[in-house]
Formats: sequence, C-alpha cells, structure tokens
Amino acid sequence: MSEQEIKVPDLGGAEEVEVIELLVSVGDSVEAEDPLLTIETDKASVELPSPGAGKITKLTVKVGDKVKEGDVIGMMEASGESSGSDETEGADASENEPEEKAEEKPQSKSSPKSQDEPEQSKPAPKKKSGGTRKETVLVPPLDGMENVPIIEINVSEGDTIEADDALVTVESDKATMEIPAPYGGKVTKILVAEGDKLSEGDKLLELTVAEEGDEEDDKQDEPPAESGEEAKPEAKADDDKGKQKEPAAQEQSSTYEPPAPGAKVHAGPAVRKLAREMGADMTHIKGSGPKSRILKDDVQVYVKSQLQQTQQGGSVGTGSGIPGVKLPDFSQFGDIEREAMSRMMSVTATNMQRSWLNVPHVTQFEDADITDMEAFRKSQKAAGEKKGVKMTPLPFLLKACATALAELPQFNVSLDMERKEVVHKRYIHIGIAVDTPNGLMVPVIRDVDQKGLWELAAESAELAQKARDKKLKPAEMQGACFTITSLGGIGGTAFTPIVNTPEVAILGVSKAAMKPVWDGSEFQPRLMLPLSLSYDHRAVNGADAARFTAVLSQLLGDIRSLLL
Ligand code: COA
Repeated sequence: MSEQEIKVPDLGGAEEVEVIELLVSVGDSVEAEDPLLTIETDKASVELPSPGAGKITKLTVKVGDKVKEGDVIGMMEASGESSGSDETEGADASENEPEEKAEEKPQSKSSPKSQDEPEQSKPAPKKKSGGTRKETVLVPPLDGMENVPIIEINVSEGDTIEADDALVTVESDKATMEIPAPYGGKVTKILVAEGDKLSEGDKLLELTVAEEGDEEDDKQDEPPAESGEEAKPEAKADDDKGKQKEPAAQEQSSTYEPPAPGAKVHAGPAVRKLAREMGADMTHIKGSGPKSRILKDDVQVYVKSQLQQTQQGGSVGTGSGIPGVKLPDFSQFGDIEREAMSRMMSVTATNMQRSWLNVPHVTQFEDADITDMEAFRKSQKAAGEKKGVKMTPLPFLLKACATALAELPQFNVSLDMERKEVVHKRYIHIGIAVDTPNGLMVPVIRDVDQKGLWELAAESAELAQKARDKKLKPAEMQGACFTITSLGGIGGTAFTPIVNTPEVAILGVSKAAMKPVWDGSEFQPRLMLPLSLSYDHRAVNGADAARFTAVLSQLLGDIRSLLL
C-alpha cells in the first residue's frame, strides 16, 4: 500500500554519473532486477535494476541528470497493490496465485511508455465484447521532454500492430525514444508526420481495436498463459530491457540488400544509440528481432563483419566503409553479354582498390630532357642487333631509378603500421608493369643497381615476354622495392599511377615529345620525357618527391652521371 523510494545503489566507486536513458515510465509494472534506467560513467554504461517488483508511480530524474549513490530516482508501489480490486491481498496473492500473476505480466509489460491515463484510456484486451472500436492514441509522458521531433514513423496506415509495437520514434538532443502502441489493432489513420514536434497528449494515430469475435484477437487471447509467454519476449526484445532474451543475431551477410532509401528501420533507442556510437549505418543492418527489428547483437555482428572486410581489403565495390556501386539492369539499354572475370583481373582489381583506399596518394610531375639519352640509345642500335637485344628507354629509367633510390633511401621502404615501424631495404629490386592480353603483370628485376644497361635491356625484354606468355614464376613477381610503369610506347602526357603497395612509390612514364625549351637566350627543340611519380604520403614528403624526380631528370638528362 505504501510507496517505496527507489534509490541509486552502490555505484562501485563512481561519484556522480549521468542518466543517459530512462527504461521505464510512470505506470509501468516491473519485476525485481528489471532495468529502470541507464547511467554512464566515463568507463561504462550501467543499468540500474529495480529493487523489487511493483509499479512505478513516480520518476524524479530525467535524461541528462547527474545522480549518485543514495539519490532517490523515483517511487514504486510494491507488487500486488495496484493490480485491481478483484484481486486478493497483496503479498499473499502474489505468492499463492502465480498463474494470475503470469497473466498480468504481459499486460503490464505491454504498455510501458505510453500510459497516459493507464486504466481509463486502455481497453483490457482480455475482455471480449464483440465488434471493433476506434481509438485515438495519444502521446504518453515523454520523460519530461516537450516538442520532441519525430524522426521516424514506424507504422503505416493499414498495418495491423500489436501492443508495444513501436509507433513512432522521437529524438531529442539527449535521447531517442520509441512510442509504443498501448494496445493492438489496425492503424486506420496516422495523424502526424516525420519532423512534427510532439508533446504529451498530442494525437498520434487512430486505431481500430478488435474486440470479441475478431480472429486475430482470438488467437492472442484464447490461451492466456501462452499469449503471455509470447508477448513477453517480443515486447522485451523491442528495447534494451530484453537484452538477455534477444534471439541470436543473424549473420550480416555482405549480400544483404539494404532497404530502399526512406524505408523504415526498426530498432529500440539503446540499439540506435549503439549504432550511432559505432558509426554503423542502420539501413545496412539486417534485423534478427521480431518483424526484422534490429537488435544490439545485429549491430555488433554488422560492425564486426565490416571490420573483417576492411582488414581483408574489402571485396570489390563493397566493404571498406564505402557503399558499393549498384548496377542497373544494362539489358534494358541494349544487348549485353556477361563474362566471368579472369582470376588475374579480379586479383588486380582487389589489389588496386586496396592500394587506392589504404595509401594517401600524391603525384609529382617532372619533365626530363632525354635528347642526348635518345641520341645515345639510337647510336646503340647496331650493337643491340648484334647482341640480339633491343635498347629501349626502359633500361635507362631502371638505372636512373636505382640511383635515385640509393640517394633517397626514404623511397626504398615499406611501412609496418601495425608495429609502427619503417622497414628499410638494403637491396634495390624494381618491378616493371607489363601490359599483357591477360591483364597487367609486374615482373621484378633484382639488384638493378648492380646491372649494366644491356643486362637490364635483355632481362626486362625477357621478363616482359614471359609475362605475355603467362610463363612468369611467382618468385619473378615478388620482392620489388619500387615500380616503373611506362606508357611511353603508347602515348599520353601524364598520369597518376597507383602505388603498388607495400612499396611506397611508383614512376609513371609517358610519351616523350619534342618541346621548345628556353635555354636562357632562346628556345631549343628538346625531347622531353614526362615523369609522374606517385608516392605514399605517409612515408614520403612532398619535398623528397620533388627531389626524387629532380634526380631522375638530372640523371636522364646527362646519362654520364649514371656511371658515377
Ligand atoms: N617515349 C617515347 N617513346 C617510347 C617511350 C617513351 N617514354 N618508351 C618507349 N618508347 C618507344 C620505344 O623506344 C619503342 O620504339 P622503337 O621501336 O622505335 O624503338 C616503342 O616505344 C615500344 O617500346 P616498348 O616495346 O613498349 O618497350 P619498352 O621497353 O619501352 O617497354 C614494357 C616495355 C614492358 C614496359 C611495355 O611493353 C609495356 O608493357 N608497357 C605498358 C605498361 C603498362 O601497361 N602500364 C600501365 C600500368 S597501369
């Protein structure tokens, strides 16, 4: 009969803590240990349990309040006192008539937050009087908040809903909260719109409530004990209170089709908060709760799967925290043919995406004057024919890059971000990108710094041919410190190559062209070779990149310096 105070229990040493969520409302019936509110210390979020079973008659705190051990947060009537005059006396009744109590539970559980005038405005679903009646659902007390905007309407006109189903979600600057249905029925008219601001007593929607003779109601009401058992977990799973009873979260498959834009996401406030904190887009999470409701486990499983995908480099077009590219049905525009990707193509695609997403790329451009180099190269044509080796610009580029790597060893590294270490390499192996009918391959020439131009010319031609003939061994494609990708034989004035991770730089070479170059007194026709150096800006700074291309330009401009 008498009300008892609900006090903040021992907080394990925490001083003042903030109330971040109210899990019950005035009028709610709770069991001992049911969570009443969530508080947050700087270390953890904790739910404060109910000291006993009963009905909440007063709440004296609101979201954002600070509380400490011993503070009164509300009042409650002990169990049995409020359950109706036809029940027998409190303690005895609850001890001797467990079945009665079991019947009450679902009813009281199913109407937690929306009880405005609890007993008056709510039809008791177990009473059957026949036909249907229209009810207007009003906004219940909002934990002291007013003018709270609706961020989501969770039902549509024509929906058949059950007691405790979320009707709308409102969000203040402190909390997100769902307004549950006080009873089941059919939604006949929604009286609010997203963005509307709600206060206690506002009209939400109209419901047609089934009474005796209604099939659905019969299903619910006939075996009362069972109906209680069913209603409980569903109502509980709807919000944080149900966390022990939440069904196992579904695997968050990467093929999950998220709902269309604007589609409703069903989740309780605590789950929404968790998703927000973890930066998870709820429209991408598959709910495993009743009516595809998203549960805490679903958020956790989703975040875990996203992390795994990111660690594995993500699949092409998905993962890595970026939305995948949706393909239209191309056949609507004309004839199409589908062909499976070759393994090489799919591996290259994955590697490119991995590099592009992981490496902060910057590209430094430079022109090298190769007029003299080309004159020399051409003068070697006869010698080349004798040797059976064609001298192209590539061996000069290899040699120049090897020298630049030795001069600027910050380019001959890899980053170990996990161990926060820079791996310095004491060898100079350079990869060359080779265009083959099967895709791009990158054979590696080892110890470039120790080889002469003819040797490099022969080896690069041999490796390029092997690549085209698909005869490269895996070892011949490993161990590069740096890569050269030359499009000079094809064309173009500049491009931005993608760093071949875990290397930290790549040199793109475009087609040499005659250009007028000012020599201080007049323009001279010079053969200029465009160089594009892309680098990992985590490992290399811009000044060093400019130094690297300046060194290359100087070496290629005067190939005698390659001998030094
Ligand atoms: N400017 C002008 N001409 C150039 C040049 C340049 N930068 N680079 C090469 N050439 C010329 C060559 O001298 C040769 O001409 P020539 O027969 O008159 O002497 C012609 O272009 C063809 O050379 P190529 O057979 O391509 O030899 P190479 O040693 O320059 O290049 C490979 C060898 C393997 C790099 C090249 O064949 C290749 O596959 N390049 C494509 C790489 C690629 O696809 N990269 C893209 C990665 S995203």
